[in-house]
Amino acid sequence: MDLNTVLAAVSLLLFVVLVAFFGFAVFHQQSVEPREPSGAELIEQHYAPGATIEQPTPYYVAPVPAAPDPLEISANLDRKILLGAGMLFAVFALVGGYFFTLFIVRADASTERWRDKVAYQHQLAQSVERGRNLYANLCFDCHGKTGLGSTDPSRKDLPGLPLNKAAFKYDNIKGDPVKLKATQDLITLTIERGRPKPPGTISMPAWSITEGGPLNDEQVQQLVSFIMYGSDADWADIVTVRLHSDGTEDGHLPLEPNPPKPPVLTGIELGKQLTLSNPTAACVTCHSFDPNTPSTLPQAPNLGHYGTEGPLNDENKARKAAGDADYLLHWIQNAPSIKPGIAMPAFSTSAGGSLSDEQIKAIIEYLQSLK
Ligand code: HEC
Ligand code: HEC
Repeated sequence: MDLNTVLAAVSLLLFVVLVAFFGFAVFHQQSVEPREPSGAELIEQHYAPGATIEQPTPYYVAPVPAAPDPLEISANLDRKILLGAGMLFAVFALVGGYFFTLFIVRADASTERWRDKVAYQHQLAQSVERGRNLYANLCFDCHGKTGLGSTDPSRKDLPGLPLNKAAFKYDNIKGDPVKLKATQDLITLTIERGRPKPPGTISMPAWSITEGGPLNDEQVQQLVSFIMYGSDADWADIVTVRLHSDGTEDGHLPLEPNPPKPPVLTGIELGKQLTLSNPTAACVTCHSFDPNTPSTLPQAPNLGHYGTEGPLNDENKARKAAGDADYLLHWIQNAPSIKPGIAMPAFSTSAGGSLSDEQIKAIIEYLQSLK
């Protein structure tokens, strides 16, 4: 049980006992103390009519004092006073103890907690502020003025994902420890390690020093704090931070994001991208380009060693033997025209497909590189 409650209960009880004791002391004192002789006792005599009247003794005879002995009475009184005073002091001591623990010990303890909290809040605010400054300098170009990334209605060209969103905000997920941890880890790890994207698109760079980036752990943490604890006002401040940073444009950093352009791919890289991650001409829906993985469509050959093993079917072998240097171009342009009934569709734009001859030539470069 709480120490304060015990102290309060004991002092209250003692106070009641003290009051009762005083009541008793006053009452008892009255009953033991002899009545003061008034002198009237002497003539308080009753005579019956016609009775022989005895003359009162002409001398005053002091009445023999009744027990208890007045000395004894006063000694008892002293003891009672002492006891009462003791109890009174005890009550004061207990009440004092009660308030001491309530206001001094407690208040001190909570002040400490309060101080910790203030210190923590201060530290957090500082971390958010530093994260905001880092963001304004490093993340602005891809994730945008207010952290909306590609969801920024005015800048659909931004490559970054939204960071200023409900699902990342501490206040929204603090009630779910699992989610909180997962979100924190996702943000931290993505900033530390980045996220490589296919060639021809913009990747999220790795920022941690251990991954070859410029930021130490504390700076990464500051960015995480900013993303999770930053208020709308903090996000709105990003542009202000850039306005007050030294830069080239009119003495400050540019106020519009300038995301890096995706690299223009050529040759084998372009062919690889068109072959492996092109949603309109998805060769991978039928073929495998990895020698160790079978094709999705069994009739479609694995092209993982095409550079050394092609051509594969008789039609193409014959065309190559006949001296057709462009046998593969013609095949990809319009395979059904060479081998009627085949599952592989025509890809050339002239045959209703989605690939230009330039693109098909890049694909061929890639296929020839698969040794
Ligand atoms: C060169 C452009 C670029 C820069 C600069 C950049 N990012 Fe990114 N960031 C991206 C791209 C692109 C993605 C999306 C990757 C994907 O599609 O999965 C991304 C994703 C993220 C994600 C994951 C979001 C999610 O919902 O999964 C976080 C967190 C992130 N970036 C934080 C940052 C921070 C913090 C900075 C500044 C230190 C930064 N980024 C700078 C391009 C960038
Ligand atoms: C709908 C399935 C399908 C798709 C999509 C497809 N192919 Fe094919 N492809 C086939 C089939 C089936 C064959 C086997 C033809 C035969 O010999 O019977 C083939 C054969 C080939 C061959 C071998 C030709 C030779 O030398 O004998 C090449 C090369 C090829 N495809 C390239 C591609 C490329 C590049 C793409 C994407 C632009 C693609 N294919 C998309 C089904 C597909």
